[in-house]
Amino acid sequence: MISQYNIPTRIFMGEGCVLAKAAELAPLGKKALIVTGRSSAVKSGALADIKAALDANGQEYAIYDSVMSNPTVECVYEGAEKAKSIGADFIIGIGGGSPMDAAKAIALLACQDIPRERLFDGNYDEKILPMAMVPTTAGTGSEATQYSIITNDARKTKTSISSPFMFPTLAYLDSRYLRAVPRNTAVNTAIDAFSHCVEGYLSVRANPITDALAREGMEAISSVFPRLAKGSLTDADRDKLLYASTIGGMVIAHTGTTAVHPMGYSLTYFKGADHGRANGLLLGAFLKSIENRCPERIGDIMTAIGMSGADELSRVLDTLLGGEERREKVTKDEAAYYASVAIKAKNIKNCIVTLTEAELYEIYLKSFGIKV
Ligand SMILES: [Fe+2]
Repeated sequence: MISQYNIPTRIFMGEGCVLAKAAELAPLGKKALIVTGRSSAVKSGALADIKAALDANGQEYAIYDSVMSNPTVECVYEGAEKAKSIGADFIIGIGGGSPMDAAKAIALLACQDIPRERLFDGNYDEKILPMAMVPTTAGTGSEATQYSIITNDARKTKTSISSPFMFPTLAYLDSRYLRAVPRNTAVNTAIDAFSHCVEGYLSVRANPITDALAREGMEAISSVFPRLAKGSLTDADRDKLLYASTIGGMVIAHTGTTAVHPMGYSLTYFKGADHGRANGLLLGAFLKSIENRCPERIGDIMTAIGMSGADELSRVLDTLLGGEERREKVTKDEAAYYASVAIKAKNIKNCIVTLTEAELYEIYLKSFGIKV
């Protein structure tokens, strides 16, 4: 088998990297649209650093700060209109997955006339504004992927827009921006990154290079689980989580996600569960359901995270997310509907084990303590 690995994103990592490497922004353009949410960019200090970097370069900018959690189609079209109206020639995304994913779609839509009903068709050309990303959470890995996940109301789920041209040009990783992240967000985002690594390791598209990245990411994130649970992260932990979440992005940039992500989208769309939490609620039951069908791969994962099997991981995730009594309520009918949606997601086919709709239904039931 011939393996391949490449992403075109230049990644700077370390305290103060935005200002230290401000000059790298200069070739991107004359005027930036900064895409972000309402608060994290300001609270984290990332927006101030980016403004200072742009000022130092003599680059103009405007801010679009209306990105909500799980950004909508309306949001990204509105952002693209803003980019066009101000004559932005590059985009800077600051925030968690939602602002960064919205920034990517805005960069695309600012250059291409794509009717709303065809946004998710996948027919895009190479025209896109260059992008720089500054994550303020450690989860999504969006700074190192070609994906933009947008709420798809027509299909009542979230859908990925993917283009090989949608990799950011630059990514700045400074874990000081994570200091303002509340405990539950830190947990949810870390589990999202962990799930990227696990799903990537269990993908038919995995290769020895993505495997090495995935094992490194899983090991790094799981080593922080005890302090994540207590809400007592150190600066070194935040360094590790940010590094690992970018690695998780580098993994799924090649492998895609598999079953957990498409299953989790319904929990987010219908129950309002945070994206990472949705993945974490399903991950234990998912691994348990395939444990006997790919024992070597599951064994590798457990070795990397120092656990005995899916049951132990489920208990750890319960500690982080809260047990069944604190979970969203899901009925059997809802679980059946969610399974019927998830089985149609294209990522399901990435899983090294072929899953049926009935199996997805059972994973939902087990995840929410519902008797079969
Ligand atoms: Fe994710």
